[in-house]
Amino acid sequence: MNNIFKKEVQQGLDSTPKKLPSKYFYDKIGDALFVKIMNSPEYYLTRCEFDIFKNKTHELINSFDIQKDSYFELIELGAGDGLKTKELLKVLVNENYNFDYFPIDISSNALSLLKENLKSEIPKLSIKTLQGDYFKVLDTLKTSKNPKIILFLGSNIGNMNDELASKFIYNLGDNLNSGDKLLLGVDLIKSEEIVGPAYNDSQGITAKFNMNLLDRINKELEANFNINQFKHHPEYNEEEGIAKSFIMSTADQSVEIKAIGKKYHFKKGEKIHTEISRKYNDDLIKKIISKTDFSLKTKILDSKAYFADYVLNRN
Ligand code: AVJ
Repeated sequence: MNNIFKKEVQQGLDSTPKKLPSKYFYDKIGDALFVKIMNSPEYYLTRCEFDIFKNKTHELINSFDIQKDSYFELIELGAGDGLKTKELLKVLVNENYNFDYFPIDISSNALSLLKENLKSEIPKLSIKTLQGDYFKVLDTLKTSKNPKIILFLGSNIGNMNDELASKFIYNLGDNLNSGDKLLLGVDLIKSEEIVGPAYNDSQGITAKFNMNLLDRINKELEANFNINQFKHHPEYNEEEGIAKSFIMSTADQSVEIKAIGKKYHFKKGEKIHTEISRKYNDDLIKKIISKTDFSLKTKILDSKAYFADYVLNRN
């Protein structure tokens, strides 16, 4: 049994209001559900960023300030299936840029699938997979003085609050040299009509994804959450610009978590906060990077201007 998981679940449920960390969505079932979310008609984020990578590839490349004859490292944090990145990699390889691609992921399975796929689709690409935690891996790359371009896509940063995001970017900068780039893909603040459904799709995939957290606790921590007495509860308003996911108790009830050795009580209507998905604008990005060693270089939008890839320069 995973002791860190147990500790974090206990801490979260002991808090007022109750909360659970979103990083635990991603077990095998959660990974598969997230793929389904990305393919759902409501979840526009992935398609919008794909649009940028497919149709604004040269704008991206120009913002990197790289020459064809000088070597650089293209490093991707949380590469996943690499669908978007492939559009960039194809052009870089076809135009004879001199680089290695380093996808970093916590899942060695995802990395070996990605490597196989890239080897067949872009045979000339040099790919060096790196398994592990972002910062541990970056630390090992730090020793090389080669120019680096870091990709952190998909609005993954949105799961952090602004203070954490700022610390995270500051720490990235610590592993980089002057002139290196960070390509930060983020979802933009827009109306509830567009953002709301992306976190509450009509097929109920996001609901399952959120509720999978309770299934995990049931299975891994010997708990007895009755899934039928909890429901997915998303919230978003444009003023705040943060999509929030909760699990709401639909009854007064108690749940025993044997691994923790404790019973938790839930009032009818009580919410467990499970995720934030922050949406951004220029002011927020500027504020977040103001405490880091990066400055804003370029912003590249998809055709609907729903999503942005910000290119940040390490000072
Ligand atoms: C993978 C963190 C970018 O917040 O939009 C999708 C995760 N959660 N639907 C997001 C997610 C609910 C997603 N990120």
